[in-house]
Amino acid sequence: MAETLTIRRPDDWHLHLRDGDMLKLVAPYTARQFRRAIVMPNLVPPITTAAAAAAYRERIRAAAGPDSDFEPLMTAYLTDTIDPQEIARGFEAGILTACKLYPAGATTNSQSGVTDIRKIDAVLAVMAQIGMPLLIHGEVTTADIDIFDRERVFLERILGPTMDRFPDLRIVLEHITTSDSVEFVRAGGENIAATITAHHLRIDRNDMLAGGIRPHLYCLPVAKRRQHKEALRAIVATGHPKFFLGTDSAPHARCDKESACGCAGIFSAPVALESYAETFEELGCLEHLSAFAGEHGPRFYRLPLNEGTVTLERTGLDIPVRIDPDGQQLTPFHAGERLNWRLTDR
Ligand code: DOR
Ligand code: ZN
Repeated sequence: MAETLTIRRPDDWHLHLRDGDMLKLVAPYTARQFRRAIVMPNLVPPITTAAAAAAYRERIRAAAGPDSDFEPLMTAYLTDTIDPQEIARGFEAGILTACKLYPAGATTNSQSGVTDIRKIDAVLAVMAQIGMPLLIHGEVTTADIDIFDRERVFLERILGPTMDRFPDLRIVLEHITTSDSVEFVRAGGENIAATITAHHLRIDRNDMLAGGIRPHLYCLPVAKRRQHKEALRAIVATGHPKFFLGTDSAPHARCDKESACGCAGIFSAPVALESYAETFEELGCLEHLSAFAGEHGPRFYRLPLNEGTVTLERTGLDIPVRIDPDGQQLTPFHAGERLNWRLTDR
């Protein structure tokens, strides 16, 4: 059994870093593991202009620390009234890498999201024309649809018709959780890909709900039944190039998670690569980890692959129950567990 695993330096193609003290606390965890990350814009207020993205990028760089070469890749938050020219200018200036579509009400800080996708037709047309990726939180939000069906119904009602109307639009379906999404992306054209989180490869709804409710495993899209997790695991095990790493690491203070109305989000940044490695080893496909974490993403985004490598050792890693016990009190993914692999310091 191999004792070390060396992979191309990886990127995280879906990440929440927040702002202020929380940003300062969490950014170093990602910067230690990843060279670049696609940073989600769902701050309060959301990032809707190139200027706001550029200023946020500076705060992230400062939080990553002076010795870090971490590169934040910025996104704009689409609203019903966002200006297509602002988006295009930000993309062409190299400030914005992509736009994020949150259906209004779908998740954390999505109140300003899009209420009807047809309201952003002008933006989508410009994005298709300039080749700017659209990153989608793919869930319908109407109250009549069961929360476990929201992703599947989004494919039928929103994503399929939108792709018919904008066949050249380049789309990343984010944090997929269902066999339906696996099949939709696999069967689609070259302009659609998907990110898969470390947690959706490991947990199903029983892990969250059976024998007691575990708020630290609550995220959106919510973990589904086991067969869906198995579909996600099966597709990464094939090394399929349309599926790549996006942690959706989403920190919330412990008191906001352990609450009568707990926030959605799993803070996986401190253990992300170790968690993916654990899964890929269980699946017998460790040989695909390097491309999943460091090649499929940049190829879709038309960005250069990272130089260099990182190494994981099979020395075991004990995950703390709590991070920063005096401050924000974050509970990381895998809290209290022992993982096989440990990322070595470069
Ligand atoms: O679980 C989630 N947390 N899903 C999202 O879509 C948003 C994220 C957050 O910002 O907390
Ligand atoms: Zn997210």
